[in-house]
Amino acid sequence: MKITVCIGSSCHLKGSRKIVEELQRLISEKQLKDQVELAGTFCMGKCKSGVCVTLDDDFYSLTPETTEDFFEKEVLSRL
Ligand code: FES
Repeated sequence: MKITVCIGSSCHLKGSRKIVEELQRLISEKQLKDQVELAGTFCMGKCKSGVCVTLDDDFYSLTPETTEDFFEKEVLSRL
């Protein structure tokens, strides 16, 4: 499974770095490094949607506050 976080300037301002850190933390905490690949991407063209994140082919809009929830509901349930 692959999670891609937008690190374009608009998403960066909305906290994409924090989201990446949070995801890294959750992935290593749950020892999922072999199963979940984390990547960054430049602007996805949906800046208004907040920090743009894709999980495989699905699109999500996250904030640092909703990242853990997303991880638990969307990521863990797919493993
Ligand atoms: S900067 Fe993230 S979608 Fe544009």
